Amino acid sequence: MPLTITLDHVASLAALDAALATSEAATGEPDRLVAIGVRTGTVAVDAPGVDVDLLAGTGFTAKVGQTTLAATVDGPRLLVGLGDRYEVDSFRRVGAAVARAARGVAHVAVDALGPVEAPNRGAAAEALAEGLALGSYAFTRYKDRPTDARLARATVIGAGGRKVTDAVAAGARMARAVALARDLVNTPGGDLTPKAFADLAVAQAHEYGLHCEVLDKKAIAREKLGGLLGVNRGSSQEPRLVKLTHEPERPRGHVALVGKGITFDSGGLSIKTTAGMEWMKTDMAGGAVVLAAMTLVAALAPRTRVTAYIPLTDNMLGPDATRVGDVLRTRNGKTIEVLNTDAEGRLILADGLALAVEAEPDAIIDVATLTGACMVALGDRTAGLMANHDGLAQRVAEAAQASGEALWRLPMPDHLRAGLDSEVADLRNIGTGAYGGALVAAIFLREFVADVPWAHLDIAGPSNSTSSYDEVTRGGTGYGVRTLARLLAGWTRLPKA
Ligand code: BES
Ligand code: MN
Ligand code: ZN
Repeated sequence: MPLTITLDHVASLAALDAALATSEAATGEPDRLVAIGVRTGTVAVDAPGVDVDLLAGTGFTAKVGQTTLAATVDGPRLLVGLGDRYEVDSFRRVGAAVARAARGVAHVAVDALGPVEAPNRGAAAEALAEGLALGSYAFTRYKDRPTDARLARATVIGAGGRKVTDAVAAGARMARAVALARDLVNTPGGDLTPKAFADLAVAQAHEYGLHCEVLDKKAIAREKLGGLLGVNRGSSQEPRLVKLTHEPERPRGHVALVGKGITFDSGGLSIKTTAGMEWMKTDMAGGAVVLAAMTLVAALAPRTRVTAYIPLTDNMLGPDATRVGDVLRTRNGKTIEVLNTDAEGRLILADGLALAVEAEPDAIIDVATLTGACMVALGDRTAGLMANHDGLAQRVAEAAQASGEALWRLPMPDHLRAGLDSEVADLRNIGTGAYGGALVAAIFLREFVADVPWAHLDIAGPSNSTSSYDEVTRGGTGYGVRTLARLLAGWTRLPKA
């Protein structure tokens, strides 16, 4: 159930009224709400005729995303705070706040771009549209009767012509991809099996003009993806490897993406607790984000060659599950001694990264719900970024900043590498020390990227949320789609080192 909201743009409220007058004349009172953006300190200017003293008494101070219903000279209006200075992220939050406040209303028209200076108007309109769409997102697949009526239409009001119209369309397109990732993340592991994920990827590839290749278990064995096979050994569901490609005629560069696709992580024989498994249907979020970002490539980055790999399996503990101490041989020939079957993400990513290296891209970015340790380090709203190339790390960080997705770079200290040395194989899959688990995991992955510029996003925290806030809705967040899309859209070849 992808997004059902329709987003559009008109220059002014009067223009909207005129356009609707004819169509609504016969149907009586329209189910429409008008929202007005107001700045802190200038509410009376932004919403003429509003009783400022009365408003102050309600505690409304026009903080970003704060909403209240008020009487104005033009009739009832939903006032929404824009804060006291321009920030593009504010508009994403404003859009989401309006969508939430307007739940149950069929159509909301948002007049909030007025105070924005002309050069910022496009970015603000895009963020506003993203927020409106994402704030109205709900996962209803398993609900007999969804509790909240969904907002069906949102109209962005504001001068700026074609530029603003295009920006609203861009925001809607981005939100649609984010919603796809959220839907996948929210779907339980019993239904979103590796095969179901791969089938959906094939359908999406068809819709968005991508080439898609799916390896089944036999092909995975033939291609010697021993990490993926090893994790799959305890499962009765077959694994899949999804490869998606966008190959333009004369590409401006080549980026490879790899997404962790564990459709359910029980921990395997190193089994998790019940509470530890509660969110483990979301352990394919990296794969979902990569697939969703790929749906935007043809539109946003037509000249960039992009190759994506999504290794898919659940991590179960059937009778032939990988045992503690088993040794797996991965795609690039390196062997891994599995000393904790719950450190499974890095085993399937080892194969995915090795495949990506073979495609000889300019850079590889992997996205994975990899470690609880990353959440200990950064909290549950900030992703960890680790990279073997400063220029690439910088680009990823800039794309995230512009997208309103929080991340923070973490180091890969040399002294932690020794903890991965194995007596019997090339590597152990867990370190020997107790600390820095997110860094150890990244140091492990680095063994599989050769000398290709590589960035790793540990999204264990921000991939899902226990509450709704800003443009985030409880459950899968789709974190990373916007960052990847922006990174690919602006891609140019990397400078050396
Ligand atoms: N999928 C988990 C990481 C995770 C934990 C994601 C919590 C989201 C929330 C991963 O496969 C895992 O189990 N990692 C272990 C690694 C450890 C065994 C070295 C962890 O973080 O405990
Ligand atoms: Mn695990
Ligand atoms: Zn996992």
